[in-house]
Amino acid sequence: MSNYHIKNFPEYFHEYRKSVRNPELFWEEIAEEHFLWRKKWDNVLNWDFTKPEVKWFEGAQLNITENCIDRHLYTNGNKNAIIFEPNNPEEPTEYITYNQLSERVNQFANVLKSKGIKKGDRVCIYLPMIPELAISLLACARIGAIHSVVFAGFSAQALATRIQDSDCKMVITSDGSYRGAKTIDLKGIVDDALESCPTIESCLVAKRINSNISMKEGRDFWLQPLLDEASKDCEPEIMDSEDPLFILYTSGSTGKPKGMVHTTGGYMVYTAFTFKNVFQYREGDVYWCTADIGWITGHSYIVYGPLANGATTLMFEGVPSYPDFGRFWEVVEKHKVNQFYTAPTAIRALAKEGVEHLEKYDLSSIKVLGTVGEPINEEAWHWYDDNVGKKKAPIVDTWWQTETGGIMITPIPFSTPTKPTYATLPFLGIQPALMDENGKEIKGNQVDGRLCIKFPWPSMARTIWGNHQRYKETYFSAFENKYFTGDGALRDEVGYYRITGRVDDVIIVSGHNLGTAPIEDAINEHPAVAESAIVGFPHDIKGNALYGYVTLKDTGESRDQDNLRKEINQMITEQIGPIAKLDKIQFTSGLPKTRSGKIMRRILRKIASRDTSNLGDTSTLLNPEVVQDIMDNVL
Ligand code: WTA
Repeated sequence: MSNYHIKNFPEYFHEYRKSVRNPELFWEEIAEEHFLWRKKWDNVLNWDFTKPEVKWFEGAQLNITENCIDRHLYTNGNKNAIIFEPNNPEEPTEYITYNQLSERVNQFANVLKSKGIKKGDRVCIYLPMIPELAISLLACARIGAIHSVVFAGFSAQALATRIQDSDCKMVITSDGSYRGAKTIDLKGIVDDALESCPTIESCLVAKRINSNISMKEGRDFWLQPLLDEASKDCEPEIMDSEDPLFILYTSGSTGKPKGMVHTTGGYMVYTAFTFKNVFQYREGDVYWCTADIGWITGHSYIVYGPLANGATTLMFEGVPSYPDFGRFWEVVEKHKVNQFYTAPTAIRALAKEGVEHLEKYDLSSIKVLGTVGEPINEEAWHWYDDNVGKKKAPIVDTWWQTETGGIMITPIPFSTPTKPTYATLPFLGIQPALMDENGKEIKGNQVDGRLCIKFPWPSMARTIWGNHQRYKETYFSAFENKYFTGDGALRDEVGYYRITGRVDDVIIVSGHNLGTAPIEDAINEHPAVAESAIVGFPHDIKGNALYGYVTLKDTGESRDQDNLRKEINQMITEQIGPIAKLDKIQFTSGLPKTRSGKIMRRILRKIASRDTSNLGDTSTLLNPEVVQDIMDNVL
């Protein structure tokens, strides 16, 4: 018998050993005992990292929404599935029971069908954090359509690129969104994007801000009237375990965003099992993850993982600073939140505002605290532990990725002793390895290297949409027969892992992954720009911020530099979104390059971080004079 709920450290070790010695048996027992399958699998696992190909529970049939909704109706139909807390605290909270969720998902699914959406079709979802967002994911899953959620902070161009890449047939959006005191014209952004998206046949529009928007005849439809007419019954489409459930785009170091493809059975099993253990969710608890469903954290740990466990999951539309910096704590008190999961950047922003915002509220319901998205610095860790958890709530520093689908390295609260800044130990079934630059595994403790995973786990992404070759090259080529994460890590004297950060050209800003190449591409389109290089530098709140080195074409006229900076950031906002704006832009006479013409980013990173005591090996530099010039003018 498998142990679905780990309660102490010896149990963790016992189960971990089982999960590594005989992974197939381990996962088979978890899958069999805790989920609803229409047909059992023929094979637990089939894998080959050289192709790469990974299949879990092959031949099994299921629908994930039966697991996330229907099966709870018999016992827990009147329990809250989703608690929706609006941006404006004056607006009432919305409570959605499992019964209501079932009806709303089915109605939505019937609307999708009435607009011609079928199994395997791609549906782009561009919505703010309102209940329709969670419901639309589940409605797609109900009928076997593949959802592709695009975070509603991306620009029209970024949205269009993602719609085009996976040939979406439909987009679901709203008239607009609230963000603190601001409103955002989402439908206007969608209209711009759709000018270059010929595959889109229809656009469903949820009403949120009651703004005056234009609706294109024959293409755009208000959602609510369609829902009102739709039946509350919808038979689930029976899916194969390996049928795609969703696509979610993530930035790469080069090229366009990668549409990571997640499939059904393994993703469900792994997100549900990790949710139960990493947050130690107990019946009756209220769980809150502050992420946006536009990111993987929201997919796995607002929607699928919690609902598969019949949990109550809180969805928050707003921001931590509105109407003031006490908002998170007001919500915690109001709903007696038991598990609270957020990003280090939010913790740092709140810490900066002082503890008086916390002291007004009763946080005694909190049992477990979590962080995700970037390394958490020691100061933020202690602030969280002291002031939010009052030293009584263990902090789970969860390391994982869009590509991994679920949490990979994490403490299990009340079991694993925590250590500030350490994600600690692999979750059950996860086999990490640290590799050196020559591709050899580094054994033993007190070492650091590149973090790889040696063995498949159920929720790993199976491919990049439309580009399996890129999937292979990005994740399975750097180290033979291993999945390469792109992160560096160290292992301490007892075997605990600490993630040290990206080792590629992805920069994590406020917990969001940003590839440098697409930002450089955006800048280089400015007519005055000859060339640019983007690097990260440490930032108190964002973790990293972006520093741009820009060389201008010689136009023979002197330009207003501040104006140029604004124009450059405007181009980035249009092409990617405001999250990718540069904090600093330095105009330079050139960029340091190797003899083969490669930009030496290592040097630029050091200069931007004001860490120039040792620039490392500069012998291959073609133009050393440029380096001095850049250092003299650093911002
Ligand atoms: C980073 C988010 C340190 C890491 C779930 C990873 C972290 C990237 C942690 C994935 C953590 C995530 N400690 N670094 N606890 N969690 N990261 O795809 O660099 O948005 O590769 O997935 O975030 O970001 P993504």
